[in-house]
Amino acid sequence: MMEALDHLVEKLDGLAPKAALVLGSGLGGLVDQVKDARRVSYAELPGFPRSGVSGHAGEVVAGHFAGTPVLMLSGRAHYYEHGNAAAMRPALEVLAGIGISHLILTNAAGSVDPEMGPGSVMLITDHINFSGSNPLIGEPSDRRFVGLTEAYDKGLRSAIEKAAKETGTALHRGVYMWFSGPCFETPAEIRMARVMGANAVGMSTVPEVILARFLGLKVAACSVITNLAAGMTGAELSHQETKDMAPVGGARLATILRRVFQDGLPD
Ligand code: HPA
Repeated sequence: MMEALDHLVEKLDGLAPKAALVLGSGLGGLVDQVKDARRVSYAELPGFPRSGVSGHAGEVVAGHFAGTPVLMLSGRAHYYEHGNAAAMRPALEVLAGIGISHLILTNAAGSVDPEMGPGSVMLITDHINFSGSNPLIGEPSDRRFVGLTEAYDKGLRSAIEKAAKETGTALHRGVYMWFSGPCFETPAEIRMARVMGANAVGMSTVPEVILARFLGLKVAACSVITNLAAGMTGAELSHQETKDMAPVGGARLATILRRVFQDGLPD
């Protein structure tokens, strides 16, 4: 951890961002909007993931986004790659170590709600961990008993809602249900998700939210809807569809996030 931390601090060259963004499918292009970019490959940072999912790079890009210092993580580890829900822990520990206090996570997700179609953006208000795992399993200290009553930070959520309004960008809000993946859900699982109170389903983000709260970071998360979930349209789902559709909602979410950083982050 210290080696990655020292290396990243050196590369940041005096830049001290308080906010970090994790870029999911469809948002990778956001790194091109970073001014005075310092780029560090995950390969140079011990403990950072070696993500093998197509559509996900592995790079830290830090600089200024809409005038505000930021650190972007392009590429993440998914539980379904290796069965390790804590795969992002070293990377998030490094972020906390360099002084990041606010973390905004993004992902691609399937919608359980026919009114929230592909291309929509959903602010996550709460989650359901349906993976059967938890990134804090094995953590020996009492710090593992993390409260998640207010997992998604109120101030950050308001800032995102305000930015959506100001930019005239439609923003849904809802509950994200974490399935382990990598296969997509069955229609029966989607009917279950709906009655359980989910609005969107996906294969990431929740372990990072848990780890972020464990590390004391304020966290917010947004989903880019790439498809209606299994059984809702009659068509089979595919990763190609996720990759093809993610940039549509991704562009909307980029507009919102740019405004959040332009307005300045809440305390
Ligand atoms: N299910 C799970 N994960 C996803 C989906 C989905 O329908 N779409 C994009 N990521």
